[in-house]
Amino acid sequence: MTVIDELHAMRDEALAAIEQAGDLAALDDVRVKFLGKKGSLTQILRGLGALPADERPAVGKVSNEVRAALEAAIDARNSELSAVALDARIAAEAVDVTLPGRAHPVGTRHLIERITAEISEIFIGLGYRIAEGPEVELDYYNFTALNTPPDHPARSLADTFYVKDLSGDVAAVTGESDVLLRTHTSPVQVRTMEREQPPIYVLAPGKVYRRDIPDPSHLPQFTQVEGLVVDEGITFGDLKGTLEHFVCEMFGADRRTRFRPHFFPFTEPSAEVDVSCGICGGVGCRFCKGTGWLEILGCGMVDPNVFGFVGIDTERYTGFAFGMGVERIAALKYNIPDLRMLLEGDMRFLRQF
Ligand code: PHE
Repeated sequence: MTVIDELHAMRDEALAAIEQAGDLAALDDVRVKFLGKKGSLTQILRGLGALPADERPAVGKVSNEVRAALEAAIDARNSELSAVALDARIAAEAVDVTLPGRAHPVGTRHLIERITAEISEIFIGLGYRIAEGPEVELDYYNFTALNTPPDHPARSLADTFYVKDLSGDVAAVTGESDVLLRTHTSPVQVRTMEREQPPIYVLAPGKVYRRDIPDPSHLPQFTQVEGLVVDEGITFGDLKGTLEHFVCEMFGADRRTRFRPHFFPFTEPSAEVDVSCGICGGVGCRFCKGTGWLEILGCGMVDPNVFGFVGIDTERYTGFAFGMGVERIAALKYNIPDLRMLLEGDMRFLRQF
């Protein structure tokens, strides 16, 4: 077999191998095997020196042709295999743009939380600090120190959740213990005045509990915000001005307020505050039961008896207090017909706010 025959045989073998290479890695192996530094072509050409000088040009020419043919075949196969590889990758990484996206619902603060924060911001803007007290409270703070004597109707078992006192200290006759779920945030007034001397400007938001059957306007657990101011020279005029400012900030500057005489054991004089109805503008409608007014809070000048319990000098200091129900304010602001909707967790309702 001449060297030229050898070259042709090698070329045919290589062309077949190129055709059979199933992927780019296999094709590269073929290239190395036949055209690489230690490949078949180099091996064959190594014998070139032994040839007579006049045969060498012809062999050189054929070897160049073989190399060119193999390189062309490798390039062509390379293109084919690259296209196949690309198709495979596109298929594997395909994104179905028609699939519905995955929703990531974002939570928000509950309406009651937000209104409580809004109320707090208004008073913080006036220089008030936030104060806190326990929800499981002593009778002394919830009633006694708030000038509510033991025979007062507000203490009735029908209104208050009493907590069973396991110390054996339970008042056997009435079944009442001196531990209860606070029925209002007013005990925070007492706790604050026990701890601090005037000037006191505090706001106490928190949960309160009453033995009420839930209905459109009652909840057994609800939220109150208590305000307390004690300082020199505080008058009922300061109370009025403060609450009028609050109503304008909360409901809008066009709303009017009205103070009606009322009674609370721990304030004297006491008042209930109404805001003009936002639906009818004060003319009277179903929402305000034809009166043109909506009740929003209770307030009054701190009763000197309360100062007596906490040792604040009634000659030097006077003060006012107020308390409002957050659920009720939310209902008035957003025309919510039933307070229970605020607790049901129905997303169709909650999403509106
Ligand atoms: N604590 C009273 C209530 O729950 C509201 C109130 C607070 C009234 C402060 C006067 C002063 O009804």
